[in-house]
Amino acid sequence: MAYDFDVLIERRGTNCVKWDGLEQRYGDKDLLPFWVADMDFAAAEPIQRALLERIQHPVYGYSSVAASVYEAVISWLERRFSWSIHRDWISFPAGVVNAINLIIQTYTLPGEKVIVQPPVYAPFFNSVRNNGRQVVFNPLVETDRGYVMDFDDLEEKIDSRTRMLILCSPHNPVGRVWRRRELEQLAEICLRHGLLMVSDEIHGDFVYSGHQHIPLASLSPEVEQNTITCMAPSKTFNLAGLATSFVVIPNRSLRDRLNNTLTNVGIDPSALGVIALEAAYRHGEEWLDKLLVYLEGNRDFLKDFIQEEVPGVKMKELEGTYLAWLDCRELQVTGGSLSDFFVKKAKIAVNDGQWFGPGGQGFIRFNIGCPRPLLEEGLNRIREAVKEHRSASVSSRQL
Ligand SMILES: Cc1ncc(COP(=O)(O)O)c(C=O)c1O
Repeated sequence: MAYDFDVLIERRGTNCVKWDGLEQRYGDKDLLPFWVADMDFAAAEPIQRALLERIQHPVYGYSSVAASVYEAVISWLERRFSWSIHRDWISFPAGVVNAINLIIQTYTLPGEKVIVQPPVYAPFFNSVRNNGRQVVFNPLVETDRGYVMDFDDLEEKIDSRTRMLILCSPHNPVGRVWRRRELEQLAEICLRHGLLMVSDEIHGDFVYSGHQHIPLASLSPEVEQNTITCMAPSKTFNLAGLATSFVVIPNRSLRDRLNNTLTNVGIDPSALGVIALEAAYRHGEEWLDKLLVYLEGNRDFLKDFIQEEVPGVKMKELEGTYLAWLDCRELQVTGGSLSDFFVKKAKIAVNDGQWFGPGGQGFIRFNIGCPRPLLEEGLNRIREAVKEHRSASVSSRQL
């Protein structure tokens, strides 16, 4: 089947955060949005069909998760990642951020420490703080091979109050797909110190040629017993509005504890969400494989464009995710945030690197999950804004 990812779909007027939220977030509704992490593509046709069919039945009461939904998840993980799991290991929280909060509440006590690796998706550390736990930063280190984990720093920061590490894999926003030996080293340290590992693998389906996503828990039976994996079809198939995710917990006693929390707070899987999930994992694979080729084209287009046309901005290697991490430090923007600069001068919305915690200053996160014509227009705007900024800086230095 042919898919046309170049088609521009008008999303304004659907209450979508990315377009309809521009005014509230950036004070200007006419920006082109490259911020929040969803894509401007239509969901795959089998997903639309499954939802329509369900919607045509007019009763939308509580519903349970069919056995076929579990089978679809199990088969997906086996096919895509060679990870074999059991049905009992799966639970359905209402989204990954929801899961992370409930995980923090379930397995740590107020005042205990949770490690995150910034720059990283801000709800990781905000969830820790908002639940009254202490955030410990184990910052990623920039090297000429890209970002790497700092294992020495990690070991130094673990003490008797440290309970948990939250991993982002692949990593939002730096775009790394962690290699097996990196994951092994991380897991070895966490196991040795008795830290529970929470692995957010929501971007796991987005890896580009030459890379392979390895679920942390699949490393060994020992790691599997000490890991809680958060996954979802929401990024992969652009279904974030359906608030559906799943966690995989192979360890029986850990699993009982989270399931207890899910029951206590009254989380029932979304009826429409699980229908979309099943259709996606059963019938969406061809669409996804085509999408990955298209996104890789977007990535290469962005990389070439930045390299050739936007002096002063550098793109970090994007191994996975559709979120590029652009280093704008050389632009030396002053008098406001970088995202303000791009709003005012380029009329585009991006996430300011500072949102991602330590190490984010001077960067922006740029979402390439959009039709190429939109990407091109956004990049043309960046080129012009940067050109003007650089010539203004040169003339002010000459004064
Ligand atoms: C690493 C990561 N985790 C979780 C989420 C959000 O997931 P959910 O919408 O299921 O809460 C995002 C969204 O950008 C993300 O990048």
